[in-house]
Amino acid sequence: MTNHDQFLSRSAEQMKESAIRRMGTVLASGRDIISFAPGYPAPETFPWADFREIARELLGGADGGVLQYGPTRGYRPLLDTIVGIMRQREMPTRLEELLVTTGSQQGLDLIARVLLDPGDVVLVELPSYTGALTAFRNVQARIVGVPQEADGIDLAALDATDERLRREGHRVKLLYVVPNFQNPTGLLIGRDKRQRLLEWAQRRDVLIVEDDPYRELYFEGTTEPDVRPIKADDGDGRVIYLSSFSKTLAPGFRVAWIAAAAPLAAKFELAKQSADLLTGALDQRVVYEACRRGVLDRQLPRLRQHYREKRDTMERSLRQALGELVSWPEPKGGFFLWLTLPAAIDADAMIPRAVEHGVIYVAGEAFFVDAHAAPTMRLSFSAPTVAQIGEGVSRLAAAIRAELDDSAGITAARASRP
Ligand SMILES: Cc1ncc(COP(=O)(O)O)c(C=O)c1O
Repeated sequence: MTNHDQFLSRSAEQMKESAIRRMGTVLASGRDIISFAPGYPAPETFPWADFREIARELLGGADGGVLQYGPTRGYRPLLDTIVGIMRQREMPTRLEELLVTTGSQQGLDLIARVLLDPGDVVLVELPSYTGALTAFRNVQARIVGVPQEADGIDLAALDATDERLRREGHRVKLLYVVPNFQNPTGLLIGRDKRQRLLEWAQRRDVLIVEDDPYRELYFEGTTEPDVRPIKADDGDGRVIYLSSFSKTLAPGFRVAWIAAAAPLAAKFELAKQSADLLTGALDQRVVYEACRRGVLDRQLPRLRQHYREKRDTMERSLRQALGELVSWPEPKGGFFLWLTLPAAIDADAMIPRAVEHGVIYVAGEAFFVDAHAAPTMRLSFSAPTVAQIGEGVSRLAAAIRAELDDSAGITAARASRP
């Protein structure tokens, strides 16, 4: 048998399956398992009837463009729609600054390929979105984490880390942040801090990558100024902004966008050409029609209510089942709750026990780069039903208590040794 390993590129050698994807294997085993692992939208919220009608009309055959190759930048009417969305979000954008991408995940990959050489530094929040870490890792960038506070990334630590890296001779190119309802912590970067981050990036001559798929999914108490993008104050092309229709319409379309200074957008376009020529033409048309017919606008208030109810259920269930044993920052929007467990628990090591109890999650360490936070986990409340959330939290609590009993037993046995 041919040894294929010897043919792999250096970057392919380093590629590994993400912890979240690995969880898919557990689910596929056919057991009764409630999953808090992947950040999938709830399929019952998809506007199926609207999509059916739109697709039926588009596939009528009257317009050949629906199934044809098209411009790499994107379907022009959809680009115009995105210009409108960007204006609503207080980021006036010109067409030459935009590119439709095959999900924001492709946007992250293009950014990595266009901007990073091996060894270049990307600063990231700790913990941070695994998909971005993978994209940066694939081009052999040096990824360095910066801790977060209750209102997002710690600015003093950011500056000190940057200073140290420069002193050591590294080139710090990008700062990657998810300011709104971060994946995995659910945190929101404070209003004031957004402004200061931008000033910091200008002073340090670093580009900010602002990844913003969750901003529309805010719950009570959060207002427009709280989710105002960093890019809204960016006068000199310092910020590369990404957003997506995955969480608001449906991720299966794979339609998202990047907004960046025109020369960068042009390079992203070239890199995209070699990846896939263009984002699916039919997908872009369906998304465009959904925007034009008001489907997206009708969806947003429904989604906010839907996910808020699930967030409430998860918080209530956790308080009832685990009380003071666990803590978390309240997610004010988005899909995720970041749980801190008693120090004796290693969330990764506990996975087999959780599976035995019929529940899974993503252990916190998947979201770290150069530090570990063993007693943490990400719970996603978006896809399970309200009833499953209640039941899943009971199962999780049983697993945690059993794990604690074991570790207390081990400690007691050690203490009683002569
Ligand atoms: C922070 C963040 N960025 C990007 C993505 C990828 O989204 P898309 O479906 O648009 O590729 C996700 C998906 O979970 C995400 O959480």
